Amino acid sequence: MSLKFEIRTAANPTAEKDRAAKLENPGFGRVFSDHMAIVRYRQGEGWHSARIESRANFPLDPAGAVLHYAQEIFEGLKAYKRDDGGVNLFRPDANAKRFQSSAERMAMALLPEDVFIEAVEQLVRIDRAWIPGGEGSLYLRPFMIASEVFLGVKPSAEYIFSVIASPVGSYFKGGPAPVSIWVSENYTRAAIGGTGAVKCGGNYAASLRAQAEAIDHGCDQVVFLDAVERRYIEELGGMNIFFVFEDGSLITPPLGTILPGITRDSIIALLRDSGTVVREEPYTIDQWRKDAASGRLKEAFACGTAAVISPIGKVCSASGDFVISGGAAGPVAMGLRKTLVDIQYGRTNDPHNWIRKVF
Ligand code: PLP
Ligand code: COI
Repeated sequence: MSLKFEIRTAANPTAEKDRAAKLENPGFGRVFSDHMAIVRYRQGEGWHSARIESRANFPLDPAGAVLHYAQEIFEGLKAYKRDDGGVNLFRPDANAKRFQSSAERMAMALLPEDVFIEAVEQLVRIDRAWIPGGEGSLYLRPFMIASEVFLGVKPSAEYIFSVIASPVGSYFKGGPAPVSIWVSENYTRAAIGGTGAVKCGGNYAASLRAQAEAIDHGCDQVVFLDAVERRYIEELGGMNIFFVFEDGSLITPPLGTILPGITRDSIIALLRDSGTVVREEPYTIDQWRKDAASGRLKEAFACGTAAVISPIGKVCSASGDFVISGGAAGPVAMGLRKTLVDIQYGRTNDPHNWIRKVF
């Protein structure tokens, strides 16, 4: 299926000097570009009214289903400015596929992959001037909400799909400096049969209390344990996790109740390309503590689109804190970060054809 997007250029776009000021130090997720993509769905009619238009509020009825039963999913990907002035997207097809599996789990309408990619590309084209230079990027947030006006508990018959764009710098204030994480022992993120493997807003709402607990304990991020035995490391609130051992091998928690991260998948591929052993297997918090103390564990790092690759320097929990390799950033995390970022910005070759050039 393909839909033709009607382009309605913003009547009052941001003045060039105001945009330049906003791009200087955008932080994460607070600055937005001038346009958005929007596509609507109605049961029986399918996807229709595809538009790129001025970024504006949605008219949403107070009885709109998303406001009551949280039928909402989203994605996150970035557009990167190459040195030659062109623009790269990184694996947008993988985001489009994951969006479909999220929609399926949440009983929402399936958006065709090509419409997802077209919406993202059209928005990047029209808001190209919003892509920061240097190590910045344009964070793209495709999302879908249930918009039927009905209070019965059932899958909505109407949806709004949209993409907004936000120029970003680093997700963490300290950039790639090591982060500290808090092990959540009171709250879990996902159970088998639940929604842990999809990107629905409800997962994040449920993680906020645990994230607040992390901040209260002076940590940057929370890491969750499995919901059954409460000892296997799952993932962070918005990132997957890897462990690096002294024999050069790595472990990352297996898929199932965690989000199948595109960065996680890319890192596994890059490591395997270089002959490094990566095991997708369970790893407990007790083992982590022991391995950090014995020196068997050399590094741990978090990864995701927003955070890229962030070394973990310190782990805090109700049963005590520990540091990893003196709390310093390790060579495996930093090396992988460089390789990944170089591919994303088109500075090195792209052996897996992950890059889609918009320009
Ligand atoms: N885990 C969670 C809970 C996330 O929100 C994210 C971010 O999207 C990730 C992992 C990393 O996924 P990706 O690498 O696709 O951005
Ligand atoms: C992303 O990395 O794209 C996410 O959605 C995670 C979120 C914490 C910003």
